Amino acid sequence: MADDQRGPGLANPPRRHISHDIPAEGQDGLFTQSWFPICLSSAATSTNVRGFEFLDGRVIVVRDEHGKAQVLSAYCPHMGADLAAGHMIDGQIRCVFHHWKYSADGRCRSTAIGDPAPEAAKLFRFPTQERWGLVWAYNGETPHYDLPDMPFPDGELVFKVRVLPDLPVDPWIICANTPDMQHIKTLHGINIEGEDQHDAVEWTDHSLKYKFTGIYSNGDKLTNEIGIFGPTLYWQSSQFGDKWFGFMSPFGLPRPSVSSLYMVVCARKDMGTAEEIDAWLEFVIDLETKVVSEDVHNMLTMKFKPGVLTRSDQTLARYLRMMKTFPRAHPSAEFIK
Ligand code: FES
Ligand SMILES: [Fe+2]
Repeated sequence: MADDQRGPGLANPPRRHISHDIPAEGQDGLFTQSWFPICLSSAATSTNVRGFEFLDGRVIVVRDEHGKAQVLSAYCPHMGADLAAGHMIDGQIRCVFHHWKYSADGRCRSTAIGDPAPEAAKLFRFPTQERWGLVWAYNGETPHYDLPDMPFPDGELVFKVRVLPDLPVDPWIICANTPDMQHIKTLHGINIEGEDQHDAVEWTDHSLKYKFTGIYSNGDKLTNEIGIFGPTLYWQSSQFGDKWFGFMSPFGLPRPSVSSLYMVVCARKDMGTAEEIDAWLEFVIDLETKVVSEDVHNMLTMKFKPGVLTRSDQTLARYLRMMKTFPRAHPSAEFIK
C-alpha cells in the first residue's frame, strides 16, 4: 500500500474467479444432464423427419407408429448422411443415401440391396417426452428427475406456446434469474411483500421453488410460486385476484452459449368460455412478455460473472453452488457430431 498514491482502501481489489468454478455448457465436452426442449410438438410427424441442433450436434425428431415422438441422433451410421434429409416410410426412417431403414427405436432394420442389417448400425435414442406442446429430450441414458407438474393435471388446462429468439448465454445462466431475489425488485420493479424468504426456498438436487407476493409497478398484486428445474425450465404458478395462470420458460441448448427460448402459458379449462380463456392467456402473455423482455435485454449484453455477493444473494449463491456440481455428461457425443 505504501506505493499506492490513492490511499488506503482505494487500491484495486484482487480479481475474483468464482465463475471459473462453474463449468460452461460444452466445457470439457460435457453438458448438464437435463431435460431440454427440442422443438414444438407440431414439428414431430409420422410422415417427415425433422432435424435440429442439440448439444453442439444434430438430432432428428420423428413420430413412431404409436404416435410417440422420438429424438434420435441425426447421422446415419453407414456413411454419415443426415437422416433429416431422409423420409418416413411405413413408420421407419429411410436414409436418403443408400436407403437403409431405421425403426424409431434407432435400430437398423434393413439395407436396400439385400445385405443383412448390421447389428452395430444404431442411432442414439434420447429419453423423450412431450409436455405442454413441446418435445423434450434428456441428455443421458436414464433421466435422474422428471419435469414438474402444474398445481392442476395437464388434462384440466389449456396451453399456449410461443417460440422466442435465441439468447447468447447458457440456459443455467438465464435460470440464475429465479434465485436472484434482488433483480425482481430492481430490474423488474416488483415489490416483494414482507422479507425475502430465503429459508422457505424448497430445494432438491435439481430444482428450487419459493413463494412470494409481488406488487407490480401498475399496482397489480400477484401471489406467485416460482422455480427452476434442470436448469432448463423456469416454472411459475400465479394467482391474480380470483384468476389463476401458469407460466413456463423452457430453455433449449442447440450449442454452447446459446439458449433457444420458449414461452408456455396455461389456464384452467373451467375458468370460462374458450374466448374468455383465450383472452386471459393473451393477457398473461402480454404481462409475462414485459417481464421476459427486461431479462432478455440484460442477457443480450451481460458478461455473466458471479463475483461479490451479499446477504440478499444467499439463495442465488446456493443455486450457483448447485450448478458447480450438477451432473454433466455427453453420452450421445459420438453419434450426434
Ligand atoms: S449413408 Fe445412410 S444408408 Fe448409407
Ligand atoms: Fe427476471
